[in-house]
Order: sequence, then C-alpha cells, then structure tokens
Amino acid sequence: MNDIDVVLEVNGEVFPVRVEPRRTLVDALREDCGLTGTHIGCEHGVCGACTVLVDGLPVRACLMFATQADGRCVETVEGLAQGGEPHPLQQAFMDQHALQCGFCTPGFLMLALGVLRNNPAASDDEIKDALSSNLCRCTGYVNILAAVKQARALLSKGQA
Ligand code: FES
Ligand code: FES
Repeated sequence: MNDIDVVLEVNGEVFPVRVEPRRTLVDALREDCGLTGTHIGCEHGVCGACTVLVDGLPVRACLMFATQADGRCVETVEGLAQGGEPHPLQQAFMDQHALQCGFCTPGFLMLALGVLRNNPAASDDEIKDALSSNLCRCTGYVNILAAVKQARALLSKGQA
C-alpha cells in the first residue's frame, strides 16, 4: 500500500510523517512522533485510554486514521504541563488521589480538559456523564470525579 505524507501538529510542534493509510492516529503519535503518553487499551473505541484533543474536541485516537488528522491541531497529555508546573488537572488528580496505576489517566485528563474547555461551568452531572465514557480499573471513579471538580474551579477562572 502506498504510504502517505501527513503533517501532524501536536502540542504546537509540527511532525511531518509518512504513514500507511491504515495507520491509526494513536499509533502515529506513539511510534512516529515518539509521544508515548497517549495509551492504547482496547483499540476498539471502548476504553478511552487513547483520548486526545483534535481541534479542541476529545476523540478516540484508536478510531481515527493519522491521515484524518492531517493539518489539524492535536493535543496530547505531553502538552499539559507548562514550565515544569503541572496543569491544574494534573495537580487535581494528584491532590485527590485520582490515579493508581495511571494507565487510564492520560485519557481521562484529555477528556476532562476537552469537557471543561468547552463548558467551563459544567455541572457535576455533566462531568459525571462525560467521564462515564472512559474506563478505569483501579480508582472506582469517585476520586477522578473529585479531581475534575477541583480543576473546574480553576479552569473556569481561565487558568487553563
Ligand atoms: S484504545 Fe482507544 S478507546 Fe480503547
Ligand atoms: S488508574 Fe489504573 S486503570 Fe485507572
């Protein structure tokens, strides 16, 4: 199959890559861009471990081809911390003990970022509903919900 030239813009950095048409965005991020913070769980769109933002909206990177992200703005967990300081969401996950093994965490962080950016005043129920799309085997979700609510207070003041 003929490879295709694609330009991925990830966290503000440009990655020109050559990929097979069938290559998923998550494989391109991890293997072609070297950004292994985005995890692969099910590869079937079920678990949400691979969640990234594309043009500001959460997507499952295992269900998107790299070619579909050509020229679009991709954000991954690697782009969250700034100047050595954790993002308010990352700090909240630590404060609220919202991660144990951490496998699901990058997906939850990017999902939550997308939710709060698009709806900074999201209600508790709206946050709970949105987070229900991702799976975690460790935490029981209560602490993840608490962390996102903690971050909401800061992000709603424009500290994203
Ligand atoms: S790895 Fe993409 S949803 Fe599970
Ligand atoms: S912290 Fe282990 S799967 Fe969520």
